[in-house]
This record gives sequence, structure tokens and C-alpha cells, in this order.
Amino acid sequence: MSHQVFASSAGADSAALDARVAELLGRMTTAEKIGQMSQVNAGDAVIPDHLREDIKAGKVGSVLNQVNVDTVNKLQRIAVEESRLGIPLLVGRDVIHGFNTILPIPLGQAATWNPELVRKGARVAATEAASAGINWTFAPMIDITRDPRWGRIAESPGEDPYLASVLGAAMVEGFQGTDLTQPGTIAACAKHFAGYGASESGKDYNTTNIPQNELRNVYLPPFKAAVDAGVATLMASFSDLDGVPATGNRFLMRQVLREEWGFGGFVVSDWASIEQLTIHGFSANKRDAAYEAVTAGVNMEMASTTYRDHLKELLDSGRIDMALIDEMVAGILQLKFRLGLFENPYTRLSDFPPIANEDHLAIAERAALESIVMLENRNDTLPLKKDKLDSLAIIGPLADDPYEQLGTWIFDGKTELSRTPLQAITGMLGDAVKINHVRAMETSRSPYSDTFEEARQAAAASDAVVVFLGEEAILSGEAHSRANIDLPGDQAELVRLLKETGKPVIAVIMAGRPLTLANIVDNVDAMLFAWHPGSMGGQAIAKVLFGAHSPSGKLPVTFPRMVGQVPIYYAHKNTGKPATAKTYLNIDDIPVRMPQTSAGMVSTHMDAGITPQYPFGYGLSYTRFSYADISVSNEQVPMGGRLTIAAVVTNAGDVAADEIAQLYVRDLVGNVTRPVRELKGFTRLHLQPGESRQVSFELDTSDLAFYGRQMQLMTEPGEFHAWIGGSSEASLQTGFTIVDE
Ligand code: NOJ
Repeated sequence: MSHQVFASSAGADSAALDARVAELLGRMTTAEKIGQMSQVNAGDAVIPDHLREDIKAGKVGSVLNQVNVDTVNKLQRIAVEESRLGIPLLVGRDVIHGFNTILPIPLGQAATWNPELVRKGARVAATEAASAGINWTFAPMIDITRDPRWGRIAESPGEDPYLASVLGAAMVEGFQGTDLTQPGTIAACAKHFAGYGASESGKDYNTTNIPQNELRNVYLPPFKAAVDAGVATLMASFSDLDGVPATGNRFLMRQVLREEWGFGGFVVSDWASIEQLTIHGFSANKRDAAYEAVTAGVNMEMASTTYRDHLKELLDSGRIDMALIDEMVAGILQLKFRLGLFENPYTRLSDFPPIANEDHLAIAERAALESIVMLENRNDTLPLKKDKLDSLAIIGPLADDPYEQLGTWIFDGKTELSRTPLQAITGMLGDAVKINHVRAMETSRSPYSDTFEEARQAAAASDAVVVFLGEEAILSGEAHSRANIDLPGDQAELVRLLKETGKPVIAVIMAGRPLTLANIVDNVDAMLFAWHPGSMGGQAIAKVLFGAHSPSGKLPVTFPRMVGQVPIYYAHKNTGKPATAKTYLNIDDIPVRMPQTSAGMVSTHMDAGITPQYPFGYGLSYTRFSYADISVSNEQVPMGGRLTIAAVVTNAGDVAADEIAQLYVRDLVGNVTRPVRELKGFTRLHLQPGESRQVSFELDTSDLAFYGRQMQLMTEPGEFHAWIGGSSEASLQTGFTIVDE
């Protein structure tokens, strides 16, 4: 992982910056300092009088949700030219997976396993957003989650700390570049700190239950990686962590973030999350809520006004002192200096390329292409061959919907840029193939209706059927959790009817989360999981369907067979009674009155099997990759030393394609129990038919460190297993031992 440090955070630059901050702080009144700590919604078309007056009076440090560049410039002008100290504004916005040009949802981007592409995607988003005057995005969202019921899994990089760390850091680098004063770079915000993805039962905003060991080994590493990548800000989570809501959590924001990691940026609350400390039952009133948040280290309050209303009172009563306020404000001013806002507060369109230009659309298309995961392909149903088709049925509620393919969190996405699958396939096939298009369902949630019969007839009259299924954008995202993650409505029945025609049925699923697909999997010949693929999703899907690109995405999250298996993830612990295919007994095979002790006695569900529907890291290709000759550079590795684990990957099929080779490691015995496998490296490679290449992964023994019983980060001597392959179920194995010398 490459690490980037702000140019201005080193040596002389840093001292000069500190001096500027100190000088400005020295001229500020208490009210002006508190003003810098307040972020206000400014999404109205016309600037309201109260906002104008507040900015003039120095009562606003940041606005969010204003995306009209003229209005943003007007707001900056009020701050810079009409307020006493002329401090410019931070202008925030949720630029999550694109601005006008929309990339795949972050979970889809994670399926690319391509940090370089993710970095480029974030730069596209930053450039377009910056041209609207935005200088701060509330992204990347790097909450690990192992619960597909949680709607916000769509925004997350999935279940794995290592993959999330690499991709989160890439997003930070993409948004921020190496110099925040440059047009097209904006400050990033790693969120939600921390543990939000563990919301119980996948219900949004719910309580979490995360032992500190799990917090440090699983949930915190992506944030540490974002901090190491130079992320400018973090956002405190809405959630409660071990009885202390994250927004008032000193352990998180003081001990871990600042003391242990040395974070020098600032923390913003989530929307009204300080005020909500009273609703959590953590603070008796809003004054106490402000006290808890500010002492915990939340520099800026989003949307609610407890800081504005109560910090002065807290100072006057001596509960907090000015040094704390100065510390909080310094972080905010520092970012404003780093962004070059004092020198250059206004946005000039001439500094930017046109939005949604060819390059941006090409990156969006590439990201969509690489995000598509092929889950099934029986009898090489795919790719479809244009010259072998006279007619093609295109069915389903998501085949031609420019809005829904964009996914959640796309406030500024332009549907007119969307290329739908129907448009793209029609464009690609021209007049040569007759398209029989039937939407069949009004929405993804519609029940069986007469239009199903129309769809069946269209399928019967065609050489092949592509059915576009899934969830609309609104079924995932914030506050949009589901308890049942089957395809909604009667989609499974639609698939059954299509299958009855005997024609090859190809399902393309667009969704914001893993779905339970057991009720369609036997009725499809091939299945692509396209997430919500963004503006160019249709084009990417068409290219994959017709073989212009071999699918190469790999799952960044485990797909369960049934929702009762959740949480199900590859990096689980072994337990004292692990299940194996041999010991597993299916509920249907258990005779009544069988003695209790002979029925398996292993850790499993009797009715779900021991495996997921599709494992983490899984994804098929139009070719076949084989792995061989795994080797380890040194079987005995001294503590503090390095080793290389390598294997040879061969494209054993007849199509050129990308493969994502993955390295997994298991630490056999630990001071605390260790996962059965952990991802420690991956690489995307392109191989021609018949071509072989060696992939090698270098590890330092510190890459194998984990937090032990005393919450100390440590690598232990002992035996390790390692696997290289194309999914978390890779079977090509080697091993090594770390020795204490
Ligand atoms: C609430 C969400 O939790 C957060 O992710 C987002 O950035 C803010 N609202 C601002 O819209």
C-alpha cells in the first residue's frame, strides 16, 4: 500500500502552517472560534437571510449540501469579504461514488479489487465536485460490515479489513491528490468512526456489540490505513460502542485516533449526532451532549447546534477551557490553509474540464466492467454470440431504468448520462438481432401479474433470455435495511416461468447488497452480479454479455444461502468444533430419536449447510485460471524479517482475461484465537490464453501482527499456513514459521 503525506505536514512547511493557525487563532473571539466549529446546511436555492447574517458574524465554519457554483462563490464571498476575519468556508457534500458521472456503488468498486481504478474514480468525483465549489467530501465510507441486511453495505468496501484498507486509502489518495491546493482535489473524510457496520441485526443506527479485540483487529484497520494515507478528516459514527456513543467516545477519538495513531486532522460529527447523545440516553441535555462531544474530540458539529448554543456556557462555567476550543479550531483552520482557501476561495469553472467528459465516462465504464462478478455460467452459456442469435429477449424491471442503475447516495448524479443495458445492447446488436423487450414488473417489488405471461411469450419467441433483476436504489443505503434479502416481489417466479421455455436464461442482478439467490440459482444458466453499476453500467454489462470483456470482478463480501446464516464471513474463527463436509448432518438426514451426541456435534446450521452460496473473493471468468508451484522464499522467517510467497497462474482457457490472484494466511496458534484465513495480498493480472505468470507477495512479519489479549499489537513466532488462488477457498497451500532469534 502506498502512503502519502501532505506536503505541508512536514518540517518547515508544518511549522509555517502552525504559525499561521496560531496567529489567526490569536485574533479570534470566542464566538468566532465556536463559529468555526459549526457546520450548517445550505442547500437552499436562495441564500436565506439568517445564513448570510451568520456567516458575516463569523458563526459558520462550514456549509454542506450547496452545489450551485455561483451560490457557493457567493457564500465564500460573504465569509471572505464581509466577515471580520475573512475566514473562508469548508463546503461539504456526500460525494460517495461520483458527482455527475456516477461510478459503481462503493461495494461494486470493491469488487474490482483494483486500487488504481478506485483512485482514478475518486479523482473523477473530486474533479466534478470541485467544479461546483465543493472542497470536502464525506467519503470514503470504510465501515467493515458482515451483514448484508444493513442497507449501508452498499456504501462500504465489504467484509474484509485488508481489502477495505487498500481501497479506502486509494480513495483518499484519489480525492486528495498530493496537493490539496490543486483544482480537482478535495478533502476526504473517513467514516463512520467506528464500528457502525456491526449494527445489530443489520438495522441501521442500531447498537453494536464489538469486543475491543474485534474492534482493533477488524473494524479499525481501514481507518488506520486512511490516516496513514493522509486523510484530512474523519466522521464520528451515529452508533453506540460498548455503551458510549461514538460521537462522545474518548477512547476512540482521543486514545486511539490521536494518541495511538497521531492523527493531525479533524473530526466532524454525523448529522445531528451530538444532539442525539440525549436520545441515546447518554447525555441529560444538549449542553451535556456538547460537553461529551467536544471533550471526546469532535471538532465540528454537523447540522445540530449544541456547540453554538452551549460551548460558551461550558467555557464560562469552567467545565471546559479555552485550550480545548483552540485545539478543536486549529484542526479546522489548518485544513482551510491546506486547501489554499485563504489564497483562492472562489471556484472558477475555467480551471476544470467539462463534467462527464469522455475520460470520466471511460473511467466509470471501466469501473463498472471490472466490478461485474459472474456467479454462474453453466455450459458456457456466456458470452452470447451475436452471429448465432436471431432474437434476444430482454426482460425485467431493471433493464432500462436510467435512475435505478445509479444506486444509493447519488444526489448529484445525472440520469441523462446513464447508458441502460437495453440501450447498450440494442446499440451493440443493431438490426441484426431482434430484441423482444418486456419489463414484466413495474418495480422490483411487484407481485405476479399478466405481464409475466407476456415475458414468458417473449422468451419463448427468442433464442436466449437476459433478465434484469435486483433491487431499486432506494432499497439499500442509509436507513434502508432489509430483514429478508431474497430478490423482492415475485422475481423468482418470473425466472421460473422464463426457465420453463427451455431457452437459455441469463440473470443480470443489480443490487446494493448481497442477496440470497438460492431460489433462482437452479433456474438460470448464467448469472452476473452487477451491483448498482452507475452511469455506464449498461455499456459495461453489454460488453460482458457479448464477450468484449471477460468478467473479472470478485466478491468483496460473502453471499449467504439464507439470511439465517448472517453473519457469515470467510475470516471466521475455527471454534473448538469446526464443521467439515464429513461431520455435517443435514436436517433431512437426521432420523427421529437419533441419539443427540451422534448428530454431528459441530458448529453449523443443520438446515443451511456449512458453506455460503458464494464465498468471499469468488468470481468466474470466460477462461479458466489454474494455480501451481506455490513457493515460499524462506520457511523459517526471523522476527522482523521478510518473506515472499509466490505461485504460477496460468490462463488455461482460450480467452484473454484478467484474474485477481489472492494470498491468504493463517496463524495457527495465537495469544488470541486467529481467523481460519486472512487476506494478506492480491493482484490483478491480465493473461493471454496459454500464458503463465508468477505472482509473488512480499510480507514483512509486521504484516502478520494482530492485537492480542492485552490489546497490544504483536506478531508471534510460530507456524503459519498460506494459500494463493482465485478466491478465499483457494486450495494451493504452503507454510512458514516465524522464529524468534
Ligand atoms: C448522515 C450519514 O450517516 C453520513 O454518512 C452523511 O455523510 C451525512 N448524513 C451527511 O449527509
